[in-house]
Amino acid sequence: MPSRSGDAPSLGAELGVDGVLLKQILPNCALHEHRVSGDDRGSLISLQTTAEIPFEIKRVYVVYDTKPLVERGHHAHKSLEQWIVCVAGSCMFTVDDGIERREVLLDNPNKGLHIGNGIWREMRHFAPGTALVVLASTLYDLEDYIRDYDDFLAYARGEMVR
Ligand code: TYD
Repeated sequence: MPSRSGDAPSLGAELGVDGVLLKQILPNCALHEHRVSGDDRGSLISLQTTAEIPFEIKRVYVVYDTKPLVERGHHAHKSLEQWIVCVAGSCMFTVDDGIERREVLLDNPNKGLHIGNGIWREMRHFAPGTALVVLASTLYDLEDYIRDYDDFLAYARGEMVR
């Protein structure tokens, strides 16, 4: 599989000086802490390509108004990298590289979840009012999705996937 664990340094090593690696969750998935600019008016987080985000941001989308008990995701991407910020509420991510499966709670805008390519993700337990801002490294491309878990496992083992 292209640029997975073993081929590349850990994602945390790519991050610039403006962020802190909180936890390397999988070789290709890491949780970061954002620098928060705050004063008596409130708080602000700025995320720029190269300063905090280790890829060129080509697309931004927002997931919000998620209904109770809904699960989202259940797919992997062959190339896409994402940086996910929970700007309101909370939700639980499951990330899986075909070898290990980990859970990550996003519950504060000061956290950024960097999901590299080749990671299966599921989202659940959305609190009411949750909003996720997703920074993406590519334009929307249906061909980049792997939506079947068995196909994902084959992809993770380096086998061809349709
Ligand atoms: P989907 O991939 O099912 O979202 P999730 O992975 O969060 O469960 O996308 C939901 C809908 O939004 C689907 O109709 C495709 C559309 N969509 C776009 O048009 N552009 C995008 O960048 C994304 C991520 C989704």
